[in-house]
Amino acid sequence: MANQDDQFKKVVSHAKEYGFVFQSSEIYDGLSAVYDYAQNGVELKKNIREYWWKAMVQMHENIVGLDASIFMHPTTWKASGHVDAFNDPLIDNKDSKKRYRADVLIEDYVAKLDDKIEKELVKAAKRFGDSFDSVQFLATNPRVIGYKEKGEAILKRMGKSLGEENLTDVKALIEELEIACPLTGSRNWTEVKQFNLMFGTKIGASADTSMDLYLRPETAQGIFVNFSNVQKSGRMKIPFGIAQTGKAFRNEIVARQFIFRMREFEQMELQFFVRPGTQKEWYEKWKQTRLKWHLSLGLGKENYRFHDHDKLAHYADAAADIEFKFPFGFKELEGIHSRTDFDLASHEKFSGKKLQYFDPELNEHYIPYVVETSLGLDRMFLAVFSNSLQEEELENGTMRTVLRLPAVLAPTKAAILPLLKKDGLPEIARKIMEDLKWDFNVDYDEKDAVGRRYRRQDAVGTPFCITVDHETLADDTVTIRYRDTMAQKRVKISELGDIIREEVDVKKWLMKM
Ligand code: GAP
Repeated sequence: MANQDDQFKKVVSHAKEYGFVFQSSEIYDGLSAVYDYAQNGVELKKNIREYWWKAMVQMHENIVGLDASIFMHPTTWKASGHVDAFNDPLIDNKDSKKRYRADVLIEDYVAKLDDKIEKELVKAAKRFGDSFDSVQFLATNPRVIGYKEKGEAILKRMGKSLGEENLTDVKALIEELEIACPLTGSRNWTEVKQFNLMFGTKIGASADTSMDLYLRPETAQGIFVNFSNVQKSGRMKIPFGIAQTGKAFRNEIVARQFIFRMREFEQMELQFFVRPGTQKEWYEKWKQTRLKWHLSLGLGKENYRFHDHDKLAHYADAAADIEFKFPFGFKELEGIHSRTDFDLASHEKFSGKKLQYFDPELNEHYIPYVVETSLGLDRMFLAVFSNSLQEEELENGTMRTVLRLPAVLAPTKAAILPLLKKDGLPEIARKIMEDLKWDFNVDYDEKDAVGRRYRRQDAVGTPFCITVDHETLADDTVTIRYRDTMAQKRVKISELGDIIREEVDVKKWLMKM
């Protein structure tokens, strides 16, 4: 656990030190769970967004994009169910005055049971040495079985109580488990209450004409309310999809784990409209397609898993998360939901406008069913960034910090470094940069010894360093250094564009899907 914490602290401090992510309004002591993307972060985020957009929109002739407003008519959120049901159960500690999500307190308790299982496993592995069979141990050790059963029973009871809105039982569970305020150890709790996560605001200047609005808590509704507009203007035939990326806002009670859970974040969502009755098939298809997209980035197959939901949201007939192994364990990265016709039917009811599709093959009108894929861009950023940050010991015994970002996503593709600040080397380096910058985001750096410049580029994930030296003056060749292997090669200046393109080309990466 200490190790995981250390690793995560390194991720957060590296993101700040190297200009990826800053706390919002830091000079005023920051704003909790709100972050700003700095010079390198904004490039990485943009590249992830583009990688998603290319795969989802450009590569599918039956998927089109949309950029709907953040402000929407307030009835949208009544129809979508967010006004009535977009709640988290919260509980306050009367002594510390701290507010918690009741379900998270309980989940953290269960996570501690999982830690205990992990410890038993480590102890037993040490005891039995090479002959240790971890699968058998987990299935038969009475203590492990006890922890597992206890955890499962707790989660089952919590799920049932939350599902039935039995908040008294959620509090009873917290008391029975003797869960204390993590800050003070106090067990003096209030009742559990539901708390709506939407941020409210107002539109209009005068008190009588102003209207109460919400900042959208998901981008999906902008797609649903535009379903007919897009379908008709684009002459779209079912099955087809509408994709969108954009900001969403949630007044999260538990705001922690850096950019994992933010109050202002960005989503990349697809709503895929299908014929009723075919949703299961499309749901399975999108689950696999989305997993393949993740795997194409090469962060390691073992770092992903599906979590199929037992408890479904009010709009879904099937749902799964793609979970990723973050520094603090496996957590939801992306959600895939079979949303039935809930949203379109509800908007039809609340707006009084028909949101149907005429299927020429069946010769009938119907409200399409929807399969949704919903990925948090910031969460994806954290997955890529934390997985890529590595420390390695070099042959000479020194340590190197390297951000092994997938080259296609790297903020800067190449750095051009004149070996010395004289003899005409900076001029040639700048000329190379002028040429490459039409196609790639490149950087020029002439400060410090070249070894230190390499390390700076390693730390921000630049896949290539190009060094101009005295040999360049004679034969138009430069040294190209590869970030991951640190191998160096002498190449012609005229070959640089092709060498870089070969590694960073989106097509090459997406073809791995
Ligand atoms: N339209 C469906 C929807 O919004 P969700 O599971 O609530 O579903 C989808 O959110 C994804 O958005 C999550 O898998 C996660 O990646 C991201 N997300 C949700 N809440 C977030 C938050 N507070 N901060 C960062 N990302 C968040």
